[in-house]
Amino acid sequence: MSKRVPLFAANWKMYKTPADARAYVEAFAEPAKRFADRTSVALVAPFVDLPALKGALERARSAVAVGAQDCYWEVEGAFTGEVSAAMLGAMKISYCIVGHSERRRLFGETDEGVAKKTSALIAAGVTPIVCVGETLDENRAGRTRERVTQQIIAGLGHLTDAQRRDVIVAYEPVWAIGTGLADDPNTSGETIGYIRSALDGLDEARILYGGSMKPQNAFDFCCQPNIDGGLVGSASLSAEGFCELIDQGLRAYAGR
Ligand code: PGA
Repeated sequence: MSKRVPLFAANWKMYKTPADARAYVEAFAEPAKRFADRTSVALVAPFVDLPALKGALERARSAVAVGAQDCYWEVEGAFTGEVSAAMLGAMKISYCIVGHSERRRLFGETDEGVAKKTSALIAAGVTPIVCVGETLDENRAGRTRERVTQQIIAGLGHLTDAQRRDVIVAYEPVWAIGTGLADDPNTSGETIGYIRSALDGLDEARILYGGSMKPQNAFDFCCQPNIDGGLVGSASLSAEGFCELIDQGLRAYAGR
């Protein structure tokens, strides 16, 4: 069995109010206890939901962690609208997504920004979940390996090997996100193998697959020895569906 503890992270994107978040915890915290000793689980939510989520999970005595979806690298200052990595650390937020393809495509996130945010999060004691992935055009042109390697070196190249071991990477083919068309698990397993070999330390880091992961395909992805869980969008929006997905993933992980 792999030494790496899997992680299943729900990426809620811009869904759910604080009241919705509390209702989700009511449905999720108890069933989630059945896999608490076998995997890490995180709910990665909009900023406004974080206090409600943390409070509800604490009251439920749940081991489920809370994550944010973005941050800014400066500790504080005149940056209207931003939330710093240091502020997330002060709130004891466990994880923060960096470089999600929606942020790269819609909000101008650059590889340089990803590198700075990753460092700021590590300094603040928050584990970064660094997203990489190729577009459909890059995939069709046979440039997947080149693209993800370039993103990994740009985003994580400046870290020490020890820091890289503790970072989470999410390989998310852009064309598979929110489309219902997941990648072939073998192909993703192979791409994640390239990612692991791109920099020292990544052989021990947890690397997730993301992009239309659902209860029906989580088993096949998690059978891949290189895949340590999932970053799950649509299929995480229902507590019941997310539990089912995690059960399927862990069934595969147990057999590795
Ligand atoms: P999806 O989203 O599961 O809805 O494809 C994944 C993600 O964007 O992280």
